Amino acid sequence: MFEHKPQPGWVAVEEFLSAAVVHPDGALKRAVQSAVEAGMPPIEVTPNAGKLLKLLVMSCGARRVLEIGTLAGFSTIWMARGLPDDGRLVTCEYLARHAEVARANVDAAGVGHKVDIRTGAALETLAVLEAEGGGPFDFVFIDADKENNPHYLDWAIRLGRPGTTIVMDNVVWEGAVLDPSMDEINAPGILGALKMMGEDSRLDATVIQTVGSKGWDGFALAVVR
Ligand code: SAH
Ligand code: DHB
Ligand code: MG
Repeated sequence: MFEHKPQPGWVAVEEFLSAAVVHPDGALKRAVQSAVEAGMPPIEVTPNAGKLLKLLVMSCGARRVLEIGTLAGFSTIWMARGLPDDGRLVTCEYLARHAEVARANVDAAGVGHKVDIRTGAALETLAVLEAEGGGPFDFVFIDADKENNPHYLDWAIRLGRPGTTIVMDNVVWEGAVLDPSMDEINAPGILGALKMMGEDSRLDATVIQTVGSKGWDGFALAVVR
């Protein structure tokens, strides 16, 4: 994508809040470091957002979580920590190298027994999950290729149930939602998913705008009716 443009004040406040309230532990910090060392883009959620995902998983009483877009497993670790010990998280990752690094990170964080990493294009994996009848998922986090966001949202509803909570990352995209020419690859998928969030009768949704180390962005929160 185009470059993030974080302002110094946003980053300083984010770091203050993370240290004062969020308290990411060594395993989470090492997961971020491992991604840097493996040459992955630094596009994991912030610790503050990761903690929000964990708390949402807990407050939903979720036992089954679906994630689309694993990277190095940073958001995976946060969400898995919100699950009970016999809970299950399935996460979809296109790149085998990312999946390998994530496997090591979730294992090192002590949540490996809850996490099932599926390598391949998520649209194919989602069809496999449906065929396996492993659902319904109680909580879904969508954070992969933005072009497919409307398809991922439709799958989240189909693999969910009434009451399933869906979080979608990156729905403001440095303001590209108002100027899709800023990113002709990703903006249409983001806008398509936002249109569904507002108009699909199966969903009840809102969007929160964010600033910080990842620039100007936001996440959508939807509940399946
Ligand atoms: N959720 C992670 C960040 C994910 S970054 C976190 O916050 O820690 C997006 C990831 O989606 C990347 O690892 C990328 O390889 C993966 N991805 C991109 N296209 C994909 C696809 N079609 N299917 C599955 N994963 C995909
Ligand atoms: C990108 C992807 C993300 O999920 C994110 O949070 C930030 C950036 C990207 O593809 O550039
Ligand atoms: Mg993201």
